[in-house]
Amino acid sequence: MIIARTITELQKIVLEKKKQRKSIGFVPTMGYLHEGHLSLIEKAKKHDDFIVLSIFVNPLQFGPNEDFDRYPRDFERDEMLANSANVDVIFYPDVNEMYPNDLSATISVKKGVGVLCGKSRPGHFDGVATVVLKLFNIVQPTRAYFGMKDAQQVAVIENMVADFNLPVNVMKCDTLREEDGLAKSSRNVYLTNDERNEATEIYASLKQALGLIGAGERNPNVIKETIKAHLQAKTSGSVDYIELLAYPSLKEVDTLEDEIIIAIALKFRQARLIDNVTITIK
Ligand code: PAJ
Repeated sequence: MIIARTITELQKIVLEKKKQRKSIGFVPTMGYLHEGHLSLIEKAKKHDDFIVLSIFVNPLQFGPNEDFDRYPRDFERDEMLANSANVDVIFYPDVNEMYPNDLSATISVKKGVGVLCGKSRPGHFDGVATVVLKLFNIVQPTRAYFGMKDAQQVAVIENMVADFNLPVNVMKCDTLREEDGLAKSSRNVYLTNDERNEATEIYASLKQALGLIGAGERNPNVIKETIKAHLQAKTSGSVDYIELLAYPSLKEVDTLEDEIIIAIALKFRQARLIDNVTITIK
């Protein structure tokens, strides 16, 4: 496995592989790898010949009071995990390599950001889209793999790819969970033991919502209130949002029909956790 710290180095390797007509699978991450990330790599290995994993904690997507400085980092551990997952190259640039100058232009995401994480993290998706566009141009992947745990991110990236005719296939990957249902996340390390136990209630409440829909409930507000009551009764977290929206348009709906997303963000003392499920209603 090669570790490329510069853009030039990475591009030389990828160009060589492209000349050999190898397909390039790309998994962008911010590191502190867990099985969720590894499941993306596994899927990439099934479709592509040559796998590039990027590890870059992107300052542009963190707000001034967010956790950029204390975002968990452990490159040695990541390197070991990536190596056992048979990654071919880790692209591991520093901030100066990615942003040598103040950017003269950035992506400003207009659709699908007034809801969910876009609402509580203004500017976040501009930062995500900008870095992903840069990464796509640097890596020039055949396919890029994103997790549905961040379903809004997937929608934003898919829209950007369509808007700018980017020659890359976006591959959506299912959310990987702990045995008790908690979605794997680099931020789970911030939880106290009690919070870690309570955090299972996020997925439990999503499943409860799916049960209600299965039983015929079509009023989004009823489901929202049920989830809210569940989380308030069973956790010490505070609800940042509970939303039921059409997917992938992320538009508000009065009645649940077609494909919808049920998404939650719950704030614990040191960690804000997000999770969602999508369901197609016949
Ligand atoms: P990061 O949070 O490190 O996530 C990297 C990728 O792993 C994302 O596509 C995310 O959806 C996916 N992922 C995270 N937890 C997962 C889980 N439990 N199951 C399946 N996939 C999971 O998302 C980012 O980084 C950044 O915003 C990035 C796209 C790299 C841009 O900076």
